[in-house]
Amino acid sequence: MTGSRRPVVIAHRGASGYLPEHTLPGKALAHGMGADFLEQDVVASSDGQLLVFHDLHLDQLTDVARRFPGRARPDGRHYCIDFSLQELRTLTVTERRRRDGSGPRFPARFPANKGSFRIHTLEEELDLIQGLNRSTGRRAGVYAEIKDPQWHARQQFGLGDRLIETLQAFGYRTAADCFFVQCFCADELRRVRARYGSDLPLVQLLDETATVSPEVLAAVAGYAQGIGPTIGHTWPDRGLVSLAREAGLLVHPYTFRADDLPDGFNTFAELLTQFIDVLEVDGLFTDFPDLVLAHIRQRD
Ligand code: G3P
Ligand code: CA
Repeated sequence: MTGSRRPVVIAHRGASGYLPEHTLPGKALAHGMGADFLEQDVVASSDGQLLVFHDLHLDQLTDVARRFPGRARPDGRHYCIDFSLQELRTLTVTERRRRDGSGPRFPARFPANKGSFRIHTLEEELDLIQGLNRSTGRRAGVYAEIKDPQWHARQQFGLGDRLIETLQAFGYRTAADCFFVQCFCADELRRVRARYGSDLPLVQLLDETATVSPEVLAAVAGYAQGIGPTIGHTWPDRGLVSLAREAGLLVHPYTFRADDLPDGFNTFAELLTQFIDVLEVDGLFTDFPDLVLAHIRQRD
């Protein structure tokens, strides 16, 4: 590890290794653990509210089928955008279930059907973060994802603009305001860059199907400050990080989970050593911000 390059720790959906994802208690825990950024995935409700919720549909994370029988779409799923905020607030949020409903996605995490957690809005989360920044004296940043903007546009909802204008209303305008906006959709990132200017700190997410070459990264550098590649990506030894550095891009890979290691790694420490100490990434999305921070501290 050269110099003082210390990667930022991004609490992926909050401290989601310990409390159900995208709940306010999970975000408060992540802040208390010392995470540098708290992540928000943002989707919309039927009455135009911005929700901090990962999925477009409610089925794997709430009791929607029980509370609203008959409100599923033909595919059998209940979509956030088909419910008002008032209706959504009556749902109980739990640990994520597997898609087939056969049990919790992560069995050793918070008990599957315990607790009374609720869906909340982006504004409520920003209030929490800014309130904790003030009361603790430690500033945690915001890392908001525009979720499926093209799908939302087909539902006649301009998610990206509403998200950015909400962030701006809370004082998040340039990288100095300690925030990032992230998205998988390059067209949406180019569009918001053109509309809101180059001060907006943007991150291009890359899933395992994304092709990465010097040309692709040079193009990304034309509208974004960084990339967020999946750790499932084929990671040549230092190739991707070096290429991104040459293009002037930050590298914030996702997702580091102590209870779900990628092939080739036997322990979480091995995984963190590879990405923090060998590849020297600039940040990490993790469900376990405490463990990543402990790794960084024991190394320093
Ligand atoms: O936004 C970074 C990472 O969270 C992307 O994947 O599916 O967890 O939103 P996902
Ligand atoms: Ca995300």
